Amino acid sequence: MTAMSLNINGKVYPVNVDPATPLLWVLRDVVGLTGTKYGCGVEICKACTVWIDGSPEKSCHIPVKEVLAVKVTTIEGLAATPVGVRLQQAFIDVQAPQCGYCQSGMLMCATKLLAGNSKPTDAAIDSALSNICACGTYPRVRAAIKLASGQ
Ligand code: FES
Ligand code: FES
Repeated sequence: MTAMSLNINGKVYPVNVDPATPLLWVLRDVVGLTGTKYGCGVEICKACTVWIDGSPEKSCHIPVKEVLAVKVTTIEGLAATPVGVRLQQAFIDVQAPQCGYCQSGMLMCATKLLAGNSKPTDAAIDSALSNICACGTYPRVRAAIKLASGQ
């Protein structure tokens, strides 16, 4: 165990964990931010997506020791961004979530997409959101992103 501190959603959290522990488990089990989900654990599904210094990354494969000097943003911090707020409302408006398990990862990727591309095409959406959804919500997720982008 090693004492460290993490910058998550603009707040500093002291943690005392094995430095090799993947960030996902530290977020969920130590810090208590459970909005980020464990799906596959092998870097395929993107349910565990967070932002590392603003870029979407799969937190199931990042040892916590590698994120000590960066800003981590989780789904709980998305409301601090205007695009994130708009997208979350659009996901509700089109009722994109079914079981909801994949949706926080979807929103982290969608918000990053819209921040850099205000009118994404279907192809751009599909490319940015390669997240796996067991419920098959892809058409509604696409519709939510289009709604949030005013298309
Ligand atoms: S849980 Fe990380 S990619 Fe699936
Ligand atoms: S809404 Fe159920 S896995 Fe995507």
